[in-house]
Amino acid sequence: MLFNSSDAPSQIWQNVLHELHRGALDPKHPFRFLTLATSGVQFPQVRTVVLRQLSPAMEFLVYTDVRTAKVQDLLETPRVSLLFYHPKKQVQIRVKALATLHVANALAQEQWKRVSEKRQSEYKSGLAPGTRIETPDLGWEADPENAHFSVLKFSPLSIEVLQLAREGHLRMQFELAAGWQGTWLVP
Ligand SMILES: Cc1cc2nc3c(=O)[nH]c(=O)nc-3n(C[C@H](O)[C@H](O)[C@H](O)COP(=O)(O)O)c2cc1C
Repeated sequence: MLFNSSDAPSQIWQNVLHELHRGALDPKHPFRFLTLATSGVQFPQVRTVVLRQLSPAMEFLVYTDVRTAKVQDLLETPRVSLLFYHPKKQVQIRVKALATLHVANALAQEQWKRVSEKRQSEYKSGLAPGTRIETPDLGWEADPENAHFSVLKFSPLSIEVLQLAREGHLRMQFELAAGWQGTWLVP
């Protein structure tokens, strides 16, 4: 369990932040992966991404190819949702956030230095992700001179946490507008 009913909201908030930080730092932590939801043209779109960093200002950083559909989605509608689940602790975290795109600026350059040379190739495909191809090998062709690296920064507006527990589930909402004070909700 990440928290229980006798914990103070401020303690729960600290636990949530601590666990999210661990997700960004530990490749084996379940919060290393999150589901990113954007508003697609016709449907909501969801996909798994890697949490690269939770900044001191509480911004979630994710890397992506700037040509992907998610980038188009969030340029159109910057309001996104992030979803985390920790199966052992039986905790779900839902985040509503505003997204900004960072390409070739200070943040993107600083983060690019953290990407190993091997991994840098993931941002250098000749064809844009999602392009229709006749055979799979066409999707592996690289254009080594051109990286399409970008950093997505998600600034949270609301963080909601659901703790499953035998004695009764617990649900708490934290909102930026309320100074991140916690409020209990009916689970
Ligand atoms: C475990 C896992 C981790 C992933 N991490 C990322 C990531 O950090 N960034 C990313 O752009 N895509 C990542 N992907 C691929 C996305 O889920 C998605 O397929 C791709 O980005 C295209 O999505 P889009 O067309 O909706 O933009 C990951 C997929 C899996 C299965």
